[in-house]
Amino acid sequence: MRCLAGLLFLLSGCLASKPQPCSSPPLMSGAFTVTTQNEKLLTTAQYLYDALGERIRIFEQGTYENKTFIRDVLLLYREGAMYDIFDNNRTCKKTPLKAAFQPLEVPKTASLLGQVILGSSSKPGGGLLVNSWWGELSEKAGKFLTTVTEFGCIPINSLYQTEDFGWTVINFFDNIIGISDPNLLNPPDFCSNADTEKEPVDFLSLFHKKN
Ligand SMILES: *[C@@H]1O[C@H](CO)[C@@H](O)[C@H](O)[C@H]1NC(C)=O
Ligand SMILES: *[C@@H]1O[C@H](CO)[C@@H](O)[C@H](O)[C@H]1NC(C)=O
Repeated sequence: MRCLAGLLFLLSGCLASKPQPCSSPPLMSGAFTVTTQNEKLLTTAQYLYDALGERIRIFEQGTYENKTFIRDVLLLYREGAMYDIFDNNRTCKKTPLKAAFQPLEVPKTASLLGQVILGSSSKPGGGLLVNSWWGELSEKAGKFLTTVTEFGCIPINSLYQTEDFGWTVINFFDNIIGISDPNLLNPPDFCSNADTEKEPVDFLSLFHKKN
């Protein structure tokens, strides 16, 4: 009996290695929602993510302070530019992008909160094994919590503290590894003569309009 217990212990030790911080696949597409603690902002978005070229495209619709909005933005971090794309009248607005590219990842400094099953393990296909992590944002901005799948490091959700919104929650879903139409990560032709704004933008301002 003791032998068996020892064997089981060894086996479980081999099967379940300790979760490690990880990076999500460099090319992904999918969707997410953003909600904030102060209820000012609620948005759903489809995204394309290219960590190799440091490019992100976001098609979003939501409400900010009870007003609905839609937005189509392309973020080119290498170029330091953000494009607001208006397909309806084939115009663009170009804005300097100051922020550094943030890859989808669990930072190496994060601490493991735990490994759990979302859904249920009682039925085949009913559960998803995930790891939750927490850590401090840079420059003492606050805390973050992030959950990714054990297999593949696919983002599930991220929560982080912000000055303007309180806790901000991003929930990812329908993620696909890869990008079906890479052209969507280049500015459309009609953006070449875009008006350029002077005021730079940060990431959260993507989800609402500052007047
Ligand atoms: C949004 O609507 C709610 C409920 O109608 C109201 O209480 C709140 O003050 C509104 N917020 C803003 C910013 O207008
Ligand atoms: C194009 O459409 C957008 C949004 O509908 C609007 O904000 C912008 O002013 C329009 N641009 C021109 C040049 O008409």
